[in-house]
Amino acid sequence: MNVAELIKVINKITPLDFAFDDDKVGLLIGSEENDVSGILIAHDLENAVLEQIDKENINTVITYHPAPMKEVLNDRGEYIEELVGLSLELENKDINVISLHTAQDVRINGNADTLVELFNIKDVEVFANTHEDFGAGRIGTIDPISNIDFLKLVEKNLNTKIIRTNAYYDNIEVINKLAILPGSGTQFIDEIINEADVFLTGDISHRYFLLADDNNLGLVQVNHISTEIPGMSKFVDILANELNIKVKYFYNKNYE
Ligand SMILES: [Fe+2]
Repeated sequence: MNVAELIKVINKITPLDFAFDDDKVGLLIGSEENDVSGILIAHDLENAVLEQIDKENINTVITYHPAPMKEVLNDRGEYIEELVGLSLELENKDINVISLHTAQDVRINGNADTLVELFNIKDVEVFANTHEDFGAGRIGTIDPISNIDFLKLVEKNLNTKIIRTNAYYDNIEVINKLAILPGSGTQFIDEIINEADVFLTGDISHRYFLLADDNNLGLVQVNHISTEIPGMSKFVDILANELNIKVKYFYNKNYE
């Protein structure tokens, strides 16, 4: 199998076209003509991934987060993307890197839908749209639950102990309507203010905590990748099944 054939299989599971327009998905390093000698799935490109592929003679990595790049100004005054750090190292070693990122968040049964399943959200609507019917966020009703019990549920469902809430969260007696967005979702907060009781997502910066307080929205922040791992684990199983091989999924447990 070459990289182009692998991308075809990936596209069947996670259509890359539905990612956000400015997102870096698909083959970011390497060539479609290269043969695939082994596959590792990594949540992020980090040194430990490099060690693993060296040890196991793997030449193709599928990452969830895009391979790191930086924007530089070329001599014609245009901004172009350049590989940096580990990305550059992998290119020099002739490793192929295919990234899924928001294509995997938005797809049916992807990262967002997996959170819907985990929290048993009903009457689901999509927000943070990338295309007409696709988006990274989900909002809907849940069985009524107290603010204290909901945090216990988050801890259990997402296998994380890192939970942070805003000041307003303590005032909520019963949560009926929940919004979720895997990864970093606060730039879409305007779409759910006055719509949800609570918004659960990964990274939240301070100013959004204040904004949510002022708008009577509860915020629950967990470790960033804890919101993405459940959906990615499903992707790993589906891909392994499609290709009839065993595939390892590497993520940094410190950040779960
Ligand atoms: Fe993320």
